[in-house]
Amino acid sequence: MLLEVDHVAKRYRKRDGGEVPAVRDVSFTLESGRILAFLGPNGAGKTTTIKMIAGLVRMDGGDVRIEGRSIKGSGRVAIGRLGAVLEGSRNLYWRLTPLENIEYFAGIRGVPRARARERGMRLLRLCGLEGKAGETVQHLSRGMQQLVAICSALVHEPRILLLDEPTLGLDLDAADRIQAQVARLAREEGVGIVLTTHQMDVAEHLSDEVVLLREGAVVLHGLTQEVTRRLGGDSYRFELEREPGQEQLARLTGRGALFDSPRSFRLLLREPRDFYAVLRDIEPIGVLGAGRDTADLATVFRHYVGNGADGEVQP
Ligand SMILES: Nc1ncnc2c1ncn2[C@@H]1O[C@H](COP(=O)(O)OP(=O)(O)OP(=O)(O)O)[C@@H](O)[C@H]1O
Ligand SMILES: [Mg+2]
Repeated sequence: MLLEVDHVAKRYRKRDGGEVPAVRDVSFTLESGRILAFLGPNGAGKTTTIKMIAGLVRMDGGDVRIEGRSIKGSGRVAIGRLGAVLEGSRNLYWRLTPLENIEYFAGIRGVPRARARERGMRLLRLCGLEGKAGETVQHLSRGMQQLVAICSALVHEPRILLLDEPTLGLDLDAADRIQAQVARLAREEGVGIVLTTHQMDVAEHLSDEVVLLREGAVVLHGLTQEVTRRLGGDSYRFELEREPGQEQLARLTGRGALFDSPRSFRLLLREPRDFYAVLRDIEPIGVLGAGRDTADLATVFRHYVGNGADGEVQP
């Protein structure tokens, strides 16, 4: 097995002496060439878990194994098999060019300079950045910077790539380029990829499997296609005659309705008889249509996470 995350846990100590149980109990495995979407609401513990896997945060419990070897103790060897681009942190040196950045990170990883240059040029070419090799990173767009960060994380040819919100704040075009590279790395180079994102369409498009975290624990783990299909049977679409008023809207979103236009929404029913309760809710507004629908990942997410921190969880 390429990557085994085995009951990891992390508590952060607060200044006032209290503790934050950021990650309570997270386990999953990842094979070569697979893309795993690591999902969950803000504060669920995704970044903390990614940092534990990358050896940047010490775990309080559990273990991480890469190709069967624990990253604890002589773990540096195992961590050499891994590349990571972390959320929001500085993954690049702004005054260096893309190629210089790649060479710098190669140096840290012990990759010979000539080799780093060759691989760096190839990676930049694959990302459509060959024309930018001579400019400093600070003058590149955010999408390009993100691509350079990914190239830098790949220079030592890791078998595992951890990407924390790789498409955050990027326009559609830049996000597409990142997605294309992620897919290529998995399909053509067999890299195993763990990717966090709040963009459910990105997760749905890219991932083979999903792990959904809530309050530091896994609430759902499965093949992306299966979780959407399994819940698809209970997913409905409703079309309204008019836009609902504020109170009606609050009631419907409270039931988990996901509006994709002012007059239509999708809903994953917790119980079949809830269908009639929803119909009663929307009758005064006027119902144009109601029928079964396939679930998408956004609906699945809403179902497991709820609308807020106290949403119901049904495994
Ligand atoms: N260095 C830290 N010190 C103290 N608490 C922290 C630290 N880093 C994270 N936390 C807390 O741990 C919990 C999990 O945070 P984490 O960043 O792992 O969540 P996340 O799932 O990545 O969220 P997001 O989607 O917002 O990126 C949060 O309650 C957060 O406030
Ligand atoms: Mg995070």
